[in-house]
Amino acid sequence: MNILVTGGAGFIGSHTCLALLEQGYEVVVVDSFINSNKKSLDGVIEILKFNKTIKNIPLEIIKADIRNEKLLDKLFLGYKKSGKPINAVIHFAGLKSVKESILNPLNYWDVNVNGSITLLRVMDRYKCKRIVFSSSATIYGYSNKKSFNENSEIKPINPYGTTKVAIEQFLNDVYLSNPKEWGIANLRYFNPIGAHPSGLIGEAPLGVPSNIFPYLTQVAAGKINKLNIFGNDWPTKDGTAIRDYIHVMDLAEGHISALQKLNENKIMTVNLGTGFGTSVLELVNTFERVNNIKIPIEFTSRRQGDCCRVVADNTLAISSLGWSPKRYLEEMCLDGWKWQSLNPKGY
Ligand SMILES: NC(=O)c1ccc[n+]([C@@H]2O[C@H](COP(=O)([O-])OP(=O)(O)OC[C@H]3O[C@@H](n4cnc5c(N)ncnc54)[C@H](O)[C@@H]3O)[C@@H](O)[C@H]2O)c1
Repeated sequence: MNILVTGGAGFIGSHTCLALLEQGYEVVVVDSFINSNKKSLDGVIEILKFNKTIKNIPLEIIKADIRNEKLLDKLFLGYKKSGKPINAVIHFAGLKSVKESILNPLNYWDVNVNGSITLLRVMDRYKCKRIVFSSSATIYGYSNKKSFNENSEIKPINPYGTTKVAIEQFLNDVYLSNPKEWGIANLRYFNPIGAHPSGLIGEAPLGVPSNIFPYLTQVAAGKINKLNIFGNDWPTKDGTAIRDYIHVMDLAEGHISALQKLNENKIMTVNLGTGFGTSVLELVNTFERVNNIKIPIEFTSRRQGDCCRVVADNTLAISSLGWSPKRYLEEMCLDGWKWQSLNPKGY
């Protein structure tokens, strides 16, 4: 099967490309590299060559913006003519900074929503009717519940989140227009962290990281002098906020399980998380213990719009995808640090 991976050079995309190629899929990446580097895909090739799993690696990389309809059209046409049409799409391409989305909602709606519409229009034209979409747990109305299932209230509090809701709704409408043909999976990720254990690919944010884990690894590397922890007065056992961290390779494998289920023509919306809550202090302590590194921390006040506990109810993912996360927090911390320490400047 020939899979188009939009945003395939990014953090989750590169790990998913690796998992796809290891499973024998052929992969075409379309990425503008606005938030990534082609070297991530060189890393994917290096891992595959080292493991000697595949002789000729079927990976094509195209630098393009998903809003460029002409180019997408040409790409789908080219593959169709070659007798190897694109069979399905895994759609990662998009912008993901909450802060930037508040400052520049126009750009976020254009890239995320218009980009998705353009992609679906071309897919429809070429009768490619299978898509796995990267949604996010940020769309839930945060309420300090024990855990969120797929029927929990949807109430995003920033433009990044509203674009994800809009795309899910749009995909639902597309599905309803022809349920016999479309197969769609909305995957709502919780907090992906870690890296491939080789240390050859990982998360390489441009500028100061906005997520806690790459921030933590940069503190460990001495690039940032301390880790600010927002609030130690939350109603949790140690006062710090709780999140559901999931190893990026588990997340990548979840996409393949979802892709395989799409042959059954349906729409599904599924949480991808571990179902375990970890406080910020537990994360820091685990990182320090497994890597034998001291992390300087400082408690500061809570951030506006933050929430005490965001943990997945992953029952549906386990029952409907036949998938379950396999890697523990210790592995996430070891692999994430290996990537950071071997690649202090990223790619
Ligand atoms: N990382 C997380 O914590 C997280 C959580 C929930 C959902 N998501 C979603 O998962 C997807 C992947 O996230 P990630 O962490 O790998 O982010 P990332 O920024 O590393 O990857 C996104 C990729 O899309 C590319 N891209 C952006 N705009 C593009 C455009 N117009 N045309 C073509 N390529 C474009 C970027 O260059 C990048 O390679 C995103 O849609 C994100 O919103 C991420």
